Amino acid sequence: MHGIEVDGFSNGIIEKTKTMRLENDSALGTCLVFAPPAEEVGVLAKYLAVFEKYGVNLSHIESRPSTRMPENYEFMVECKPSGNIAGAINDIKNKSEYLKIISRDYKDNKDSIPWFPRRIRDLDCFANQILSYGAELDSDHPGFTDPVYRARRKYFADIAYHYKHGQKIPYVDYTKEETETWGQVFRQLTNLYPTHACKEYNHAFPLLVENCGFKEDNIPQLEDISNFLKDCTGFTIRPVAGLLSSRDFLAGLAFRVFHSTQYIRHSSIPLYTPEPDVCHELLGHVPLFADPDFAQFAQEIGLASLGAPDEYIEKLATCFWFTIEFGLCKENGQLKAYGAGLLSSFGEIQYALGTEPEVRPFEPAKTALQKYPITEFQPVYYVAESFEDAKEKMIKFAATIPRDFGVRYNAYTQSIEVLDSKHHIQRLVNNINSEISILIDSLKKI
Ligand SMILES: [Fe+2]
Repeated sequence: MHGIEVDGFSNGIIEKTKTMRLENDSALGTCLVFAPPAEEVGVLAKYLAVFEKYGVNLSHIESRPSTRMPENYEFMVECKPSGNIAGAINDIKNKSEYLKIISRDYKDNKDSIPWFPRRIRDLDCFANQILSYGAELDSDHPGFTDPVYRARRKYFADIAYHYKHGQKIPYVDYTKEETETWGQVFRQLTNLYPTHACKEYNHAFPLLVENCGFKEDNIPQLEDISNFLKDCTGFTIRPVAGLLSSRDFLAGLAFRVFHSTQYIRHSSIPLYTPEPDVCHELLGHVPLFADPDFAQFAQEIGLASLGAPDEYIEKLATCFWFTIEFGLCKENGQLKAYGAGLLSSFGEIQYALGTEPEVRPFEPAKTALQKYPITEFQPVYYVAESFEDAKEKMIKFAATIPRDFGVRYNAYTQSIEVLDSKHHIQRLVNNINSEISILIDSLKKI
């Protein structure tokens, strides 16, 4: 146990919320939110006895004002995968006014909501939830038979695997060979950006050259980039050891966190990579995360994904693919690239802006259903009018996702607020009221 801390600091008001963190790591097990009958004495001990009876270990207990009954309070309990959780849930349900189940094993229980991170440090849970470890290479990977390359990949994967929120991302001494590979990609692509990349990209790129060492003979460091983006839009970078599920990757965006690889492609084919690498992340993704409208658009996709059913995660991942990975936008009647898959591919960026592929307007409900190849150039691209317009469309699309709660990111606490009660929403409306008063007052002074 690591003592009791006060949680839930919001808008200058410290709520009467007690948190008991029982372990350093956040739990990935089942989360239960329940309210005891009003004014029952010694109720926590009764609930703890239930967990003991069914052999369920807890990693986190929190009491806080009830979201549904303002005069009452509720508990949020995180259960480690242990004992008879189903039995405990049944018992808790009978003893409570209400019970909400948030679970990584949501497929087993139709009443549960898919687990999602609620605090930024919960993203640490993803480190060991990767679909494939970055050190393992397929037999057709260009580095498969190169022991030096494989050792490097393990080195990078280990950095990410052990990374925890709040730590500095370790600086990496890239080898001469790695830096030369970067240099070849950098040289080819930077020739194309002035004519092929969108204006937001071309605005941010020189700032990265100036502040983060984006140059031909230097692979920029994730830590420097993360600090730079934080100053621009609040986005930060986390190193990732391998492939995350779409659900986990999108959840990071809700916190304005981008999971990035740190290794580089194999030197034998500098203009090809079968997977995202540091060239793709840094030259493709990073510059646009410095743009406020783009950052907000990316976060909207992330927020829409939290607790969403699987079929909607797939739709959101498809929207991500056709915007943040392969999106085109209009600029003075001309098409420009803003998708990272284009901005990091010498061949595809030229192909995408040529006459061969089909282009369609970005409409999330329709775009979300489009099938796409992952190993060849895209036959269809989607065009955004602007990032602002794409964001508005994503918000409207998110409203169609079947969830019985809304979510909002609280940047002060770096946590997700679940809006599922009148009381909670009322407080938010009051906050917006006070912000509007500040804006009206400022307008009068101009
Ligand atoms: Fe990407």
